[in-house]
Amino acid sequence: MKKTNVCVVGSGIGQCHTECYEKLNNLPIAICDIDIPKGKAHQEKYGVKKFYKNFVDMLKDPEIEAVDICTPNYLHVPMMIDALKAGKHVVCEKPMSVNGTEAAKVIDVQKEAKKTVLMAFCYRFRDDIMWLKKQVDTGVIGNVIYSKASLFRQHGIPGWGSWFTQKEFAGGGTLADCGVHIIDVTHWLTGLKKVKTVSGYVNDCWGKQKLCTSTWGCPDYENGKFDVDDLVAGQLRYEDGTIMAFENSWAAQTDDTFDIKVLGDKGGFIWDLSKENTIKLFTMDGDTHLYSSTSIKCPHGHYNELKHFLECVDKGEQCSTTIEDGVEMMRIIDAIYKSAETGHEEAVIY
Ligand SMILES: NC(=O)c1ccc[n+]([C@@H]2O[C@H](COP(=O)([O-])OP(=O)(O)OC[C@H]3O[C@@H](n4cnc5c(N)ncnc54)[C@H](O)[C@@H]3O)[C@@H](O)[C@H]2O)c1
Repeated sequence: MKKTNVCVVGSGIGQCHTECYEKLNNLPIAICDIDIPKGKAHQEKYGVKKFYKNFVDMLKDPEIEAVDICTPNYLHVPMMIDALKAGKHVVCEKPMSVNGTEAAKVIDVQKEAKKTVLMAFCYRFRDDIMWLKKQVDTGVIGNVIYSKASLFRQHGIPGWGSWFTQKEFAGGGTLADCGVHIIDVTHWLTGLKKVKTVSGYVNDCWGKQKLCTSTWGCPDYENGKFDVDDLVAGQLRYEDGTIMAFENSWAAQTDDTFDIKVLGDKGGFIWDLSKENTIKLFTMDGDTHLYSSTSIKCPHGHYNELKHFLECVDKGEQCSTTIEDGVEMMRIIDAIYKSAETGHEEAVIY
């Protein structure tokens, strides 16, 4: 596979991306970060050739073919648009934006630019999740009739007071940060069916009290602000009448858990990240109920997703996780917040 000259933008999760590119024998050619000490430390750690402080200057570098956007959520869309207009391929971390209207601005730009784009929904790329997707697609559990996704962290507010806990910059709290992962991966596993309405409930009691914070990110307890959700629950109602239930918190007084349950009319499965064997698959043979438990190794999906991106760039193809997937997730998130406000089921505006 031909090497692609990538610039990783941002030095938080961006460092994990750089490490994956290194393992893929495709060390990035540049790091870009507005925070010079942080960005230069990132550059030096991996021995990356170039450093840029300014994103717009970086885009003028003809050697750079692809831009991997790992910056705060409010910067994703403007950076994607600028990068595509500059003729670069793009990776964009989740969530795609701060709302659906903003996210949708990229669609036409991409149609014009015709560059490869990866919406980085990394859970879809875990080996165990990809294996489960195959089981669903080949009909092993029959037609999906119900799913439930659940993710709880006890001390998971990333940087209290930073951009992460400000609606303006993040688009939301735990729903925009973690909820988007569990809703996206479950929506994908169960066939990306069209969502008709959503029902949502949010709360913010722990974050408001500065409780259950974490050591992640850069907290700013003095000058920072917390105006986002730290608990979300609800359901998606699909056009075929089936339902996905979800619950998520980054600051709940309960165990740290992450699990997905999917029920079909011929079987079902539980994926549980807290178990060594993450998969329990239930199938039926006549009246006999069969159960198997297995584990498939892949600590996270970043390596697989970036491998997929480089392969697509090499072949001149589009990635399997698209801008449209990113926009749809933002539209679903918008409807969940609206429902939490109105107290009614709300339609997803496609
Ligand atoms: N897929 C995952 O598992 C996962 C995990 C963590 C974060 N994320 C996503 O990645 C993104 C970044 O999160 P993070 O945890 O790394 O945040 P962070 O705050 O730790 O890092 C953001 C980086 O972007 C840099 N930055 C800010 N403005 C910039 C600009 N104008 N130009 C260049 N650099 C700029 C900051 O200096 C910082 O280094 C978010 O969208 C987040 O949701 C995804």
